[in-house]
Amino acid sequence: MSEGIEICVIGSGYVGLVAAVCFAEIGHQVVCVDNNEAKINLLNSGGVPIYEDHLPELLRKHSQRRVRFTTDLGAAVAQSEVIFIAVGTPQGSSGSADLSFVEAVVSEIAAHVKSYKVLVEKSTVPVYTNEWVTRCMLRHGVSPDLFDVVSNPEFLREGTAITDFLYPDRIVVGANNERSARALQRIYEPLVNGDYYASHTAMAGGRTEQMPAKLLVTSAQSAELIKHASNAFLAMKISFINAVGNLAESVGADIEDIAEGMGLDSRIGSKFLHAGLGYGGSCFPKDVAAFSCVAQQQGIDFQLLEEVRKVNSLQKEVFVQKVRSALWTLRGKKLAALGLAFKAGTDDIRESPAIDILQKLIEEGCKVQAYDPVAMEKAAALLPPSPNMRYVSSAFEAADGADALLILTEWPEFAGLDLESLRSMMRFPICIDGRNLYKPSVMREHGFTYMSTGRPTAHPDLVSKASSGKSPWPQTLHVLEIGRRDESTLSNLPTDQAQAQ
Ligand code: UDX
Repeated sequence: MSEGIEICVIGSGYVGLVAAVCFAEIGHQVVCVDNNEAKINLLNSGGVPIYEDHLPELLRKHSQRRVRFTTDLGAAVAQSEVIFIAVGTPQGSSGSADLSFVEAVVSEIAAHVKSYKVLVEKSTVPVYTNEWVTRCMLRHGVSPDLFDVVSNPEFLREGTAITDFLYPDRIVVGANNERSARALQRIYEPLVNGDYYASHTAMAGGRTEQMPAKLLVTSAQSAELIKHASNAFLAMKISFINAVGNLAESVGADIEDIAEGMGLDSRIGSKFLHAGLGYGGSCFPKDVAAFSCVAQQQGIDFQLLEEVRKVNSLQKEVFVQKVRSALWTLRGKKLAALGLAFKAGTDDIRESPAIDILQKLIEEGCKVQAYDPVAMEKAAALLPPSPNMRYVSSAFEAADGADALLILTEWPEFAGLDLESLRSMMRFPICIDGRNLYKPSVMREHGFTYMSTGRPTAHPDLVSKASSGKSPWPQTLHVLEIGRRDESTLSNLPTDQAQAQ
């Protein structure tokens, strides 16, 4: 592998921490800076502040050897050749990205630059941030010969961030001169020339020495736009399939078949076509809003982005409406909630559809018993435990005595539950699945009324259940169900359960 480079990463959140350990993994010397002393102490004592696959093993492998953690930004800048800025760029009140953390860090860096440095924007930032960073450095009196600013956006997904970093689809370097582009090329060389994939200590992943990562060099402005445009495009794909899902549901079609049929067209591709509760997390909602603001500021009509947001926010309301249509009234209903994280594989609950949905249902008087394998501690900060919001330690405990079961995050363990036991624990076997984890036919066979996303509601075969004497349903409901003729027309009935009361 090439000789290691002295790198400083400022910010130890998802992006900064992952970048720091991965740069160490490909042979560089890294110092990671954060002003949060408690976090730096935790990292220095071997702790792992976020739930992310492979992060603990890479920290064990490199911490205090190729990667160090400190609060001393000045010393870290002085000793490094390349400085990655990976601090938060939260959504400001107008929807645009709030760059005050970036500005504060750049001002601090400026005070410590004594020799040539490359400053790299790693956080997602609007186009022209590169120019503002340059201006800020100059205003603080740094000579233009002593620095360049480069944009190197990250495309990491939470849960798979480490392998996304080491086995990227592409690496984008936005540099406005040869010298700074070359510095970034040297950093990523082990991934681009395949040396990392050939090494026997490399982590397992989807690339080989013969098929290494691709690095694309563009202008800084183009790189900034590549990041926003990529995230907005993926968000658009999700909103598109969710809108089609709502249509499919109303005409009795199946969104899973539709997504498969569309995805087989190589021009469309099958990824990011899973209908569900809409996108959440720390990136898509914020980035679509920020990208929309950038377009507005430039006087460009990009209404499509507003539609993407509208469909996304409606999707949560569609789910709450489904719960209402299954249960008639909501006050006092006991709901089992499976999943709180914004997606599986993470404990992150930022912009999680699950949290929004539960908040609405609690406001309407429901009592929630929630379970998530890793996100309960974080969720409790937003939805504090109360008589209406209980956190329990398993899916079955959540289902105990519930009027309905809601599947809100696609954790694999929720897709393989023992359905007989689950049904026997519930007050009424109604499942409303926001993530399409089950086949409707399987849920029907197990005696559930199953409402999912973009598919027709499945009702249990109650005649046979009743005649076998195993039906969990109240007698009045048998009469209602046995009397029906067309299942699809019944799926829109206001309530199954309420008819029984
Ligand atoms: C995203 C981008 O994928 C990544 O490139 C960028 O760097 C950061 O933002 P992340 O937020 O970790 O990553 O999650 P991702 O896996 O992209 O999912 C985002 C949201 O979309 C989740 O809420 C997920 O449940 C939802 N989603 C995703 C769908 O609803 N359907 C899909 O088909 C895919």
